[in-house]
Amino acid sequence: MTFCASTNPIAYLGATPVFVDSEKESWNMDPELLEEAIKDRIAKNGKKPKAIIPVALYGMPYQIERILEIANRYDIPVIEDAAEGFCSRYDGKVLGTFGRFGILSFNGNKMITTSGGGALICPDKETADKAKWYATQAREGYPYYQHEVVGYNYRLSNISACIGRAQLTVLDEHLAHHRHVQELYCELLKDVKGITMHCNPAPEYDSNFWLCTATLDPDLKIKGQENAYKTIITGAVGGAAGVIHAASRPPPTASPTTTSRLCASASTRPTSRPVRSGSRCTSNPSTATPPPTSTASANPSSKSASVSPPAPTSPMTTSAT
Ligand SMILES: Cc1ncc(COP(=O)(O)O)c(C=O)c1O
Repeated sequence: MTFCASTNPIAYLGATPVFVDSEKESWNMDPELLEEAIKDRIAKNGKKPKAIIPVALYGMPYQIERILEIANRYDIPVIEDAAEGFCSRYDGKVLGTFGRFGILSFNGNKMITTSGGGALICPDKETADKAKWYATQAREGYPYYQHEVVGYNYRLSNISACIGRAQLTVLDEHLAHHRHVQELYCELLKDVKGITMHCNPAPEYDSNFWLCTATLDPDLKIKGQENAYKTIITGAVGGAAGVIHAASRPPPTASPTTTSRLCASASTRPTSRPVRSGSRCTSNPSTATPPPTSTASANPSSKSASVSPPAPTSPMTTSAT
């Protein structure tokens, strides 16, 4: 389960992401499979991964104690992707502060937003200064422009930072709201057979419930689901932001599950203009707005519809080599 934003930076560096599957408790990086993956890399190419990147999928903490124990044993730094897990805690400690670095996202759909951008949690001032130096074109201390390494233009603007400071004043409210919504789902769905809400699996976990999620039993049936995938997939865009490539047919490699079909049908919206990020799989399929007929979602030969592949919206658990 994954989202490409966690692996794109690995690809920018020319490194190869090694995906580690999820465990059932938190839906995040499985520590056992992590160790298997490390051993496999060492056996196959004699090198261990350069970093381990657990992702707080939907805000739920990963098994950080076990991951850190393995990381320390193999001497591999941990970079926490807490983009979705801002203020989630494991054993009382906030995510992003366990590993060598932690990343947070203040994208428009996150717990608080600066309109775009995020934060890097650093272990000390020295590394924070180095990150800021790289993020501001890596300029040497001369009265003229002298650059000796490749720098970046990745800083948060002062205006974005102002928005972020204002957002901090409503952070507690946002956190309370997300937890309230989770409680509502739990309460309202508790007697519905076949639906299991994804809750904190043990007392150490304290999710921010950035996104409330549930599993559906395979034999759960929803009226009309047989044709949902076929008729809607080429017009459905769930949880995406920005401009999306048009697609006229489902990707040939896609092997959608019933659940992803339902997600696709639930998140249908017009795609003729850039779409805002929104809730994933939480709306009722029966009340979802169908795409305008001009996007011809029911017509497989139409070129005007846009698509996101069936299940790309979950973040990933990765380690980089
Ligand atoms: C798990 C995960 N990692 C990384 C990112 C990237 O964050 P940003 O959009 O701030 O670059 C996101 C957000 O979309 C995310 O959900």
